[in-house]
Amino acid sequence: MPRKLIAGNWKMNLAPSEVGAYAALLKERAAEAVEKVDLLVCPAYPALPLALAAFDESPVMVGAQNMHQELSGAFTGAVSGEMLIDLGIEWVILGHSERRHVFGEDDQLILQKLQRALELEMRPILCVGELLEEREGGRTEEVLRRQFKLTLGELEPKELKRLTLAYEPVWAIGTGLTATPETAQEAHELLRGLLREKLNEDAAETRILYGGSVKPANAADLLAQDDIDGVLVGGASLDPDSFAAIAASAPR
Ligand code: PGA
Repeated sequence: MPRKLIAGNWKMNLAPSEVGAYAALLKERAAEAVEKVDLLVCPAYPALPLALAAFDESPVMVGAQNMHQELSGAFTGAVSGEMLIDLGIEWVILGHSERRHVFGEDDQLILQKLQRALELEMRPILCVGELLEEREGGRTEEVLRRQFKLTLGELEPKELKRLTLAYEPVWAIGTGLTATPETAQEAHELLRGLLREKLNEDAAETRILYGGSVKPANAADLLAQDDIDGVLVGGASLDPDSFAAIAASAPR
């Protein structure tokens, strides 16, 4: 079983000038937790160089929140995977629900980004998850199967092994509503089954994170579920104390 991964998605928060104080505190507060879990923070692009410097020689890893599917060219405002690698970034979140639903990214585009990230030997975290109306309409399984098939269906087992999956029910993101550990486990079990169809017993090696209003108060119960291999934390990752408390609540 891989170590649990506790990942923080800062979204459009924390300016470069705030990174130093954040890193100093997190390194202190999470000093014990990093012995048992992997810790990753994903700042906004302008804060990446400072975050890399601040976590240099620390086990805390630094990743990006998105990337463009092309390597370079006339794409005003975009950042390529090659640029991230040049900076020393391997981890990248792809297909986050805000990219899908606020910025209009579809499965086709997310697949292109995923293929590029894998070609560049990056470590993508692919997010999937259903909307509230899809859950209420009893369509969660259908949505997860569709997102899995459209984004991961064509990938080779070798490529799938570089991937981390994140199950993030859209209705639980930033809303304070969390999936119960049982509801989350059910979705994770389904995703594990889909991975198993491609990877057989190696499917246990691919981490499946849960995301959506994870906080210190609910993290331990979520992380205790068989198929929850970590968490992707938005709001609660902005405070080093609560992010460290989430990491500390993970079982070994
Ligand atoms: P949240 O965000 O923890 O603030 O709900 C999770 C995410 O968007 O990854």
